[in-house]
Amino acid sequence: MRELEWTSSSDTPARTRLAIVGRGRLGTALAGALSQAGYDVSGPMGRGADGRGADAVLLCVPDAEIAPAASHVAPGPLLGHCSGATGLGELTPHEGFSLHPLMTVTAEGAEFAGAGAAIAGTTPRALAFAAELAEALGMQAVEVAEPDRGAYHAAASIASNFLVTLEAAAGRVAAAAGVQREQLVPLVRATVDNWARLGPERALTGPVARGDEVTIVRQRAAVEDVAPDLTPLFDELVSATRAFAAARDPSGTDTRATGARDGYAGDGSAGDRPRPGGPAGMNVIGTVAELRAELLEPRRAGRRIGLVPTMGAFHEGHLSLMRRARRDCDVVVVSLFVNPAQFNDAGDLDAYPRDPDHDAALAAGVGVDYLFAPSVDEVYPSGFATEVSVAGVTEPLEGAHRGRAHFDGVTTIVTKLFNMVGPDVAYFGQKDAQQAAVIRRLVRDLDIPVAIEVCPTVREADGLAMSSRNMHLSPADRVRATALHRALRAAQDAVSAGERDPGAARERALAELTAVSIEPEYVELVSADTLAPVDRIAGDVLAVLAAVVGGTRLIDNQPIQPNGGTGRP
Ligand code: PAF
Repeated sequence: MRELEWTSSSDTPARTRLAIVGRGRLGTALAGALSQAGYDVSGPMGRGADGRGADAVLLCVPDAEIAPAASHVAPGPLLGHCSGATGLGELTPHEGFSLHPLMTVTAEGAEFAGAGAAIAGTTPRALAFAAELAEALGMQAVEVAEPDRGAYHAAASIASNFLVTLEAAAGRVAAAAGVQREQLVPLVRATVDNWARLGPERALTGPVARGDEVTIVRQRAAVEDVAPDLTPLFDELVSATRAFAAARDPSGTDTRATGARDGYAGDGSAGDRPRPGGPAGMNVIGTVAELRAELLEPRRAGRRIGLVPTMGAFHEGHLSLMRRARRDCDVVVVSLFVNPAQFNDAGDLDAYPRDPDHDAALAAGVGVDYLFAPSVDEVYPSGFATEVSVAGVTEPLEGAHRGRAHFDGVTTIVTKLFNMVGPDVAYFGQKDAQQAAVIRRLVRDLDIPVAIEVCPTVREADGLAMSSRNMHLSPADRVRATALHRALRAAQDAVSAGERDPGAARERALAELTAVSIEPEYVELVSADTLAPVDRIAGDVLAVLAAVVGGTRLIDNQPIQPNGGTGRP
């Protein structure tokens, strides 16, 4: 885009005969405003007008009708349109220009003075005429090049049309709380004014910017209750706002990264676990005996018990598992135990984020019945000497890089949790795809009577898979980490384009990582069932990767769909 310095043409507006074609809101508003500005305006006319006798014709018609309307115009006059997104090719063979007011036009008309205007011209004379019209209306003209028109117009829609959609959604939710739309108006005005005066970074306030997850969970539950169709929009907005807030403020509001909020010692002491009792409506339990006693009655009554095993530091990924369990089951148990047996590195265990009271509030917010948060001694009493180990599927990928002990730690604790809770169904995230495959194998091989549900990976707005470890990323590394998602997408895109050689698809993924100097621990295309590398892409294939980004180890994966699916992670 280029701001134009405009010097007026020698013709005065009064001598310029301007025909306006299109009797809609814009044609009517421009005919009035340009006539007031001194042009000799005829119209607005119907779409078949030929513009004979005019020096210039301005088409104010929907984009799809520009070319047909242009075909009616007799050769001679300059021919313009008022579209934001459409190029000048539609006006061929005329000497063409465009003038798109960056202003909303309602049935009441529009205030053009002071607004921006995108202009273009096929010749210097046509461009100069568009600039002259903009200046006559008091608008700030900006030349927008043909390839940039789509982005320009998308920005205009986001800033104006989509804002109205958001306010309509806010109005609906407010109405459910007995608050009138009018009462939101000063808030909306002040927000837009702050955005204009202070810039987006300083204008952003509210629970996401403060990192107040408990409030976000409450808000979401309310939206789900009063306007469930708005929940996906709410989730997207939270996610996009999170990404924006994180990029805006490196230090953020994140005291969790240091554990400073709880004075965490990382030794399995009471500080690792939520306060007993817990938030209203949810029971926090610390011992196996107590948990079994609580679950006795529901089990006898044949009620369906769902378990979500976690290590805490809840994010939207965990909450999505809990919500799913809440939908499917009568009783929802979430276990919160940072399992020392699955960490191969004491430093990693110590650094693992912990915020138990916050976690308890989040779990209560999504309707969890029991938060089971045992101590290390409760789980591994003195003399503990048993290990559950799954072979084969544990060996490649994470097994090769973190060591077999990692999965032995996982399968041992998960077996214990299944025995402690006795769930009908247990929920795991697709993000830990190998872990999910290992647990399916464990349950099958040991005939453990539990159904395993693997739920989709939840991603930030920019594609980064949600993980408790993301909070350790510096702002710069947080941006670099988005390459993991791009890498998986590149593999999928290659396969969608017909590539069946896993090596070639892998190279495409690798290129995305190396472009931002990330050297992965592994990038592979593997069988979704066995996790073994595949020779050819067919059937259920997963693209999997792991990389250390700025000291933080991240993993991600993407089911690859050879036949037509977009497979967008
Ligand atoms: O995925 C996790 O958070 C853990 O590996 C699990 C399944 C809770 C076992 O500690």
